[in-house]
Amino acid sequence: MVQTVPELRLLTPEDASALAALEAQVFADGWAEERFRDLLGQDRFLGAGAFGPSGLCAYLTAYSVAGELEIVNVAVAPPFRGQGVGRALLRFFLEQGRARGAGRVVLEVRSRNAPALALYTGSGFVQVGVRKRYYADSGEDALVLEWTPCPDS
Ligand SMILES: CC(C)(COP(=O)(O)OP(=O)(O)OC[C@H]1O[C@@H](n2cnc3c(N)ncnc32)[C@H](O)[C@@H]1OP(=O)(O)O)[C@@H](O)C(=O)NCCC(=O)NCCS
Repeated sequence: MVQTVPELRLLTPEDASALAALEAQVFADGWAEERFRDLLGQDRFLGAGAFGPSGLCAYLTAYSVAGELEIVNVAVAPPFRGQGVGRALLRFFLEQGRARGAGRVVLEVRSRNAPALALYTGSGFVQVGVRKRYYADSGEDALVLEWTPCPDS
């Protein structure tokens, strides 16, 4: 577990710069700051972040469509990985989704992304589909995972 528990909160348009910078660190096809600034001000988009002493250290972005949340990306800055930050952030996001009445959360994940698969399946996601050779760069399948809230929680 992390020494200093990061602060978890929803992202606002003011976080767009830090979000774009972190996404560019982790993904080659990261979104531009302006795109995040625009989307973070809209009801159809939800961003959650974990903040350490030096700022944003993890984020999760999702579209909200017709009572469903579709996760776009989740990433933890490399120095913070393997310390429970991703798990805590995903739990926070799912709580926010449940509070907003989301009936389902879906995402796609690369079939060989072991850390991400461990994170999702350990948080209650189950596989509901597969898109064969979905990722052109590696030829990997995309696994479609789903999470639904427990009726009594
Ligand atoms: C996937 C990612 C967000 C996980 O975040 P994290 O903070 O390192 O994860 P946590 O420390 O909270 O661990 C979550 C689970 O993943 C497991 N895990 C973490 N790193 C792992 C690794 N390298 N290999 C296998 N399992 C791993 C942990 O054991 C834990 O499972 P457990 O609770 O059953 O023990 C992070 O590795 C990351 O940013 N990866 C690059 C971006 C990415 O691939 N995003 C997913 C796109 S779909």
